[in-house]
Amino acid sequence: MGSLDKPNALRLITLFSGSVKGMAFYPPSHPAIRQPLMELYKTLTTALSGGEYVSWGLIDGIMFFDDHLFLSPSTAIADLTERMMEKEIARIIANPSVSFDELELFVKLFSSRNVRFDTLSAQMAEGGITSIKLVRHGDESFDHGDDDAEITSDGDHIASYNRALSAVRMICSDIELGRIPGSAPLIKVVDEMVAITMEEPWSLLGLTMIKDYDNYTFTHCVNVGVLSMALGAALDLDIMSVRDLGIAGQLHDIGKVMIPKNILNKPGKFSSAEYDEMKRHPELGSKIIREMDGLAPHISSVVLGHHLHYDRSGYPQWATQLPFNQMIDIVAVADTYDAITTLRVYQHPVNPKRALDEMQKLKGTILNGSIVESFIEMMGDYPVGTLVRLDTNEVALVYRPNPLDGKAPLVRIVIDGEGKRLRVPREQVLIGPDGSRYAEIVAVVDPLLKDIDIGQLITGGITEAA
Ligand SMILES: [Fe+2]
Ligand SMILES: [Fe+2]
Repeated sequence: MGSLDKPNALRLITLFSGSVKGMAFYPPSHPAIRQPLMELYKTLTTALSGGEYVSWGLIDGIMFFDDHLFLSPSTAIADLTERMMEKEIARIIANPSVSFDELELFVKLFSSRNVRFDTLSAQMAEGGITSIKLVRHGDESFDHGDDDAEITSDGDHIASYNRALSAVRMICSDIELGRIPGSAPLIKVVDEMVAITMEEPWSLLGLTMIKDYDNYTFTHCVNVGVLSMALGAALDLDIMSVRDLGIAGQLHDIGKVMIPKNILNKPGKFSSAEYDEMKRHPELGSKIIREMDGLAPHISSVVLGHHLHYDRSGYPQWATQLPFNQMIDIVAVADTYDAITTLRVYQHPVNPKRALDEMQKLKGTILNGSIVESFIEMMGDYPVGTLVRLDTNEVALVYRPNPLDGKAPLVRIVIDGEGKRLRVPREQVLIGPDGSRYAEIVAVVDPLLKDIDIGQLITGGITEAA
């Protein structure tokens, strides 16, 4: 077993991911790559100081290092996950004899974009790398020590969420490279998500509170897919429509990849020329989707129409007279909700409950009123991910709805009655099965004021490998 605690294990993964990325831009001797590489080697040597090998890679799409699982998708983890999936590598194993030169060469070989498992293994053998080994995806039975990482069903849902994130990232990077993206990985993960949505919609809904500000477009796309699927299921649509909503939602903003970055990331207001440019993203996205294999024509149509607005006052104007199905109204509601609840450079995030109030005001104009009503009903009085104050003065996170009583959801207590932050959040039923009352919700709390990362908290109560 390795000798790194979780923060250092995460540091090692982050350094590895960063070194791999940097190697694509700089020669190994450049300080920008040399420095993280040296630190990576130092951290790896510490991990190996126990005399046994260490390994890192993916279990069910979740990044791990030895016994530590990393459930929150940071940029570095998402980057590395994508590369490992692309290369069909499940696991990297290093033994204590690893030298700096071997590590440096390995990082260099690993950083080549189009090199997969077989070629990479051959190049490693040719370069004399003997202390680092790879395990191919699908061949995970390879003995890797005693890390019987147990992932709970929440963990499975997080793994699906992460896989969706990787699929969307891959599609976007293909578009950036001028390639027509494949649709198979996305369809596969949406199929998984449909099954979860039909059974326990709230488990994925909670994950939409993960807002990764560095990767806004990707997380936003996945969140809109999840919210659209849940709403489709709440509206009793058939399973194929729920699936198409998931695909359309996750692809709805991919056209943004083709909008210049300086416009896309501009804080503050757009000039009218910039706004015109921005408004091209539904058309650009739908055009790409039409060229992708295996996607029904109405998916590109949903993407084309997601900003048309219910009253057709939106864009693209030329498309206002086209016939669209109800899916554009569903995706538009999901899109609006996720955008309102996300913090961006120019916008303070609005809590889920207030976001629903804001959406009430858009009924009949921007959004379809009856779909908004169904969405509000689905989200409940206190949507999953809302931070609330109880009459015991405790602060808690809503993380499961209570179908019997919308005002008494299942919560995780985060701050105790004295204002002290709990190291491990405590699960609490507000009203027991016998009707006994623990506490009542008295107000909604702003997570920023309490310095609380809701996404982290939603994924935080998961049982991790010991
Ligand atoms: Fe959009
Ligand atoms: Fe959007």
